[in-house]
Amino acid sequence: YEVQWDAGAADKGGWSSFMAKEISEQPDAIGNTLRGRLVDGHVDIPELTELGEPRLREVDRIIIIACGTASYAGMIGAYAIEQWARVPVQVELSHEFRYRDPVLTDRTMVISVSQSGETMDTLMAVKYAIERGVTTVSVCNTQSATIPRESDAAVYTHAGPEVAVASTKAFVAQITALYLIGLHLGRVRGTLAADAEAEAVRQFETLPEKMAEAVATHEQIAQLAHWMADTRSVLFLGRHVGYPAALEGALKLKEIAYIHAEGFAAGELKHGPIALIDHGQPVFVLVPSPRTSPLMHAKVVSNIQEIRARGARVIAIVEKGDTAVLPYTDDVVRLPLSDALFDPILQVVPLQWFALELSTAKGLDVDQPRNLAKSVTVE
Ligand code: G6P
Repeated sequence: YEVQWDAGAADKGGWSSFMAKEISEQPDAIGNTLRGRLVDGHVDIPELTELGEPRLREVDRIIIIACGTASYAGMIGAYAIEQWARVPVQVELSHEFRYRDPVLTDRTMVISVSQSGETMDTLMAVKYAIERGVTTVSVCNTQSATIPRESDAAVYTHAGPEVAVASTKAFVAQITALYLIGLHLGRVRGTLAADAEAEAVRQFETLPEKMAEAVATHEQIAQLAHWMADTRSVLFLGRHVGYPAALEGALKLKEIAYIHAEGFAAGELKHGPIALIDHGQPVFVLVPSPRTSPLMHAKVVSNIQEIRARGARVIAIVEKGDTAVLPYTDDVVRLPLSDALFDPILQVVPLQWFALELSTAKGLDVDQPRNLAKSVTVE
């Protein structure tokens, strides 16, 4: 089985779909989000500096608002921002946020995440926050869109235009931008340890290269999807930031392959989802690095054993050289993992390819799925 390559499709850069092109562009997308923001071993975002350091130091709570894929980027970003900036971060769907009378003060920061910058629910939530005197920061991919224009500060992801309805490169760029915000806040607030900063910067410097390796899993995943074209339901498991990445893997499948898919926090397995495991049930598991996250790794391996014993078909996305999972897996996708916070940015890539290839195997329109719009500009 060979991945299709259409030389005539110039606007798709030779790829068979915009989504394929955009997945392949992720190393550059991340590189572009980082450009100019890593300065002498520190993260510096001038757009945040302009808000004034006292304002950044006084923030006592952050609420991230977004819809769809952007909300999963927000969930991932929340782990990093809390870890580095030591501010409580809560993530909320924009449409839920507005209708529940949230507690907001002048020390609250609302960070909206939106690829288009035009999602009506997110825009209305941002306006609601502005009316209540909250500091608003927009993470956006589209220059001069409405949400960044309305916000106090705009941190653009610079991932380049995203055409496919299902978001891919904008997602990894959003995570990158949120991590940069976390590092900037941590530095200004004095909560970021020098070694943590150095490690994060090192991770960022090597991320585009590792991302290229993640993109190169395409052939392997295409074959897997080819064999699984009749699959009717797929589950995704992850821990820590692997959990929202699992949710994103499931969303991609629903969006473009129209099959039932669910993401779970691996620790929740025995609280319900394990009842779904039946003979042959495909389950993608995001396995953290055994070197840098040994405890989480051990837990995930034991989750894999539990579902395997009940007949699951396990597709594990692991660090290269991780042999502990091999006896319990049907398929293994190997990636250059190395850090609990950064690994899911790579692990989501084979999940994107899987959705794309399953959609293709079913003869569906990858770029224009039924019933969905790239940007939902109505409430
Ligand atoms: C739509 C798109 C999704 C996207 C969501 C949020 O549902 O189909 O791919 O994640 O809107 O869009 P935004 O532009 O606000 O990131």
